[in-house]
Parts: sequence; C-alpha cells; structure tokens
Amino acid sequence: MSVNYELEPIFPEFNVYPPRWNFDNERAWQLYRRAKREQWDEEEIDWNRVREIASGLDRKQRLAIAYWWSLLSTFDNATPVFAYALVKAHELHLDTAVKGVLTTITFDENRHNVMCGLAINSVLPGYPFNFKPQDELERKVKLNTLWAWYNGSRYWKAYLEAYSKYTMDVLFTSFMMGEAAATTVFSTMSKGAKVEEFSKLFKKTAVDETRHYAFTHLIMTENASSMSEERKKLVSKQVRAGFVFLSLITYRPPKDFWRLPSWFQEVNEHMEDLAREAGFYIPELKEKEEAWRMAILRVGSTLSRYGVPMPAIPELGITGEEVKDLKEEDFIPVF
Ligand SMILES: [Fe+2]
Ligand SMILES: [Fe+2]
Repeated sequence: MSVNYELEPIFPEFNVYPPRWNFDNERAWQLYRRAKREQWDEEEIDWNRVREIASGLDRKQRLAIAYWWSLLSTFDNATPVFAYALVKAHELHLDTAVKGVLTTITFDENRHNVMCGLAINSVLPGYPFNFKPQDELERKVKLNTLWAWYNGSRYWKAYLEAYSKYTMDVLFTSFMMGEAAATTVFSTMSKGAKVEEFSKLFKKTAVDETRHYAFTHLIMTENASSMSEERKKLVSKQVRAGFVFLSLITYRPPKDFWRLPSWFQEVNEHMEDLAREAGFYIPELKEKEEAWRMAILRVGSTLSRYGVPMPAIPELGITGEEVKDLKEEDFIPVF
C-alpha cells in the first residue's frame, strides 16, 4: 500500500490517538485541582492500633466487622470501573480536565479498595477465602460475602455491555446516585465510629465521595439541557438502579437484581448487631432510610431542574416515575 506522507494522516475513530488538549472547561479544571489537593494515604491510618483493638474482641465480633468490610468491597471494587471509563473518555476525546478527574477517581477507588483489604487483614486476616467456619452461622456468613461478590460479577458484565448501549453522559449521570448515597453513608459512619482510626477512614472516604458526586453533578449539568426525552428516561431508570444496587449495604437488598441465599438478610442483621456491640458503628434501619431520603432529595432536586423525572422509590414511600422490571443489563451505578 502506498501512503502519501505529504498529506496529514487520517486517524481512526474511537482511538486514544492523537493526543489533544483543551483548557477552557474551567469548572472541570477546578474539580481536577481539588482532587489533587484532597489526596490522602490509606497507610497513614494506624493499622497496628486497629489490630490491637481487634485482638480484644471475640471471634464472632471480629468476623462481623470483617464481614461488613467485605460487603463494602463489593462496591469499592470500582477501580476497573473507572479505569474502563477513563479509556473510553480518551477514545472519545473528552475534555482534558474531565479525563484528569477520571484519572483521580480511578486512583481514589483503588485507595478505597486497598482500605477494605487492610481493614479485613487487620481484623480477621484471610477472610473470606482462608476462613474456616466453625459453625453453621459462620458458614452462612462466609457464603453471604461470596454471594454478594458473585452479584458483583453480574454487575461487571452488565457494566461492560452498557458502553455499547448508552452515551457517556447517561453513563456518568448514572453514577450520581451511588456517589450521593456513599457520601451520606460514610459521613454518618465517621460521626458514629468509636474506633478513632475507622472514624478517620470514613471521614476521608466521605471527602472523596463528595468530590465524585460533584463530578457526576458537573457532567449532568453540562449535558442535561441537550438530553433527549429518551435519554432523560434512561437517567431516571439508572437512579432507581442505583438505589437497588447499593441497598445491599446501605439499606436492605430489594427483590430486583439481587440473587442471594434465603438466609442473607437474617444473617446480615445478626452480623450488624454483633459489629455494633463491638463498637463498630453501623446505622440502624431508621437512619439508613433517612440517609437515603436525603440522597434522593439531593439527586432529585438536580434532576428536576433539568426535567429529568425522579423514579418512584416505594420502599421509602417516595413517589415518582414508576420504573418496572429492572434487568441485569440495566445496572451501571458505582460507589
Ligand atoms: Fe466514588
Ligand atoms: Fe469509593
């Protein structure tokens, strides 16, 4: 094939080349700068102190706390979620600052994931894969973790496929509910935590999640005015999906989507009580409902400004657009 090098090359579509920069999206630049400023190190936490406190607890209490962190890691396994979004953002040549923010979120989520691992490793090393249950309850707890993670693998499949179905703006705004819920959960947990190291962890994580929320808010406000009615409907559906997906840890898993053992909820509540007795603060059902209501109000007020209908959340007595039959392939929300 003869190539005429006298002409400029024609670059293929959906390719990270050529590199290109723009410096005009000031709101995104501000967020990128904030993300760099607010970085922190999970190894600054005194993990020896956590180990020391854990050594004073009994086996079931340690299991309950490790179990909670394992559930959290279902959602904070989001490094590849954002790494993938970052690749796509480069292929689509989005704004330089938007790509910058996505790079920082990828790094943040890795920190959150390592934090889950460090917490488990300090409280009950080897959980769950090297944990040998000694009774029926322990066997069910371990299975709870593994089945929650199995549902995560269903979510990952749906997420990858979502990129061929949705546009980037719909995808990013569907992260909104997850980030809003995460912000509330982590700030409540940081206020209630008796173990100082955990309080610090949750506070710092809440700062990250607040920033992630600000990112989804930015994308939403930049794109919503030009969104078609059909896309707006997709966004409402994603907000509902966010509630359903995250409710496993932030409320109680609704029937849609989740495939879990019949004992899941009972064992889960039992573990939450054990963790609370051990001084590990987990919000009670009433507080969880309140946290969700706040998150939904927050997201809802932004959505309504752009004519995006709020989905009905009958679990919390919130009326709105009815979203029926959420399917496996509809799930995109992340922490
Ligand atoms: Fe996040
Ligand atoms: Fe996170």
